[in-house]
Amino acid sequence: MSRPSLNALAAAGAALAMQFCAPRLADAPRIHALVSQCPPLDLNSTYAYLLLCHHFTDTCVVARHGQELLGFISAYQPPHRPGVLFVWQVAVAKAARGEGLGQQMLIHLVSRPGIAGIDLLETTVSPSNIPSRRMFEAFAAARDAQVSEAPLFAARDFGGEDHEDEVLFRIHGLRAAPSGEPRRPHEFARL
Ligand SMILES: CC(C)(COP(=O)(O)OP(=O)(O)OC[C@H]1O[C@@H](n2cnc3c(N)ncnc32)[C@H](O)[C@@H]1OP(=O)(O)O)[C@@H](O)C(=O)NCCC(=O)NCCS
Repeated sequence: MSRPSLNALAAAGAALAMQFCAPRLADAPRIHALVSQCPPLDLNSTYAYLLLCHHFTDTCVVARHGQELLGFISAYQPPHRPGVLFVWQVAVAKAARGEGLGQQMLIHLVSRPGIAGIDLLETTVSPSNIPSRRMFEAFAAARDAQVSEAPLFAARDFGGEDHEDEVLFRIHGLRAAPSGEPRRPHEFARL
């Protein structure tokens, strides 16, 4: 059965607001289920998501709409690299895409008090993943932050796996930028 889009929920008068928060342990199976619906993301084990929900709650985000978990970000601060936040996975449920949710989760994450010292956001983007690239570019542009790219993992680094290159995508100057809204209002904000 297809799920209603956020616009449909809004039209139906759903009075629930989108909530952005740190994940709880109980979210791990639902995060696993969400990521399984979000190719080309690599699906990690439920155990890996439990670890993220246990050890990395300060740098991970879930987006809830009522009982539904519609979005997830895993991220961490790489050891010995103060001021850097590495965003690992961003997943938005199919029904909620294209409405700014991915970008809003990023904004929520870098606006957390514990992340205030972060100046550089890093992630990797596969060359064919246009939605991912566009989301990070829009996030950077809204904050007047600079973007640079460099090779990080080549396809051959994944052994026999059928995997694209992963290009390191760096967004510089987060501290200088205002923690603002995305440049245009998005539909889900009206829910
Ligand atoms: C990538 C993903 C997280 C984007 O989430 P989203 O909530 O739809 O993204 P947003 O609505 O915040 O989009 C942000 C920007 O990207 C653009 N964008 C989003 N999806 C797009 C698409 N399919 N094609 C072109 N542009 C797109 C939006 O137009 C917006 O730009 P704008 O503000 O300049 O208009 C979502 O498509 C997804 O979960 N994909 C599968 C998993 C994945 O590839 N994750 C990323 C790798 S970590």
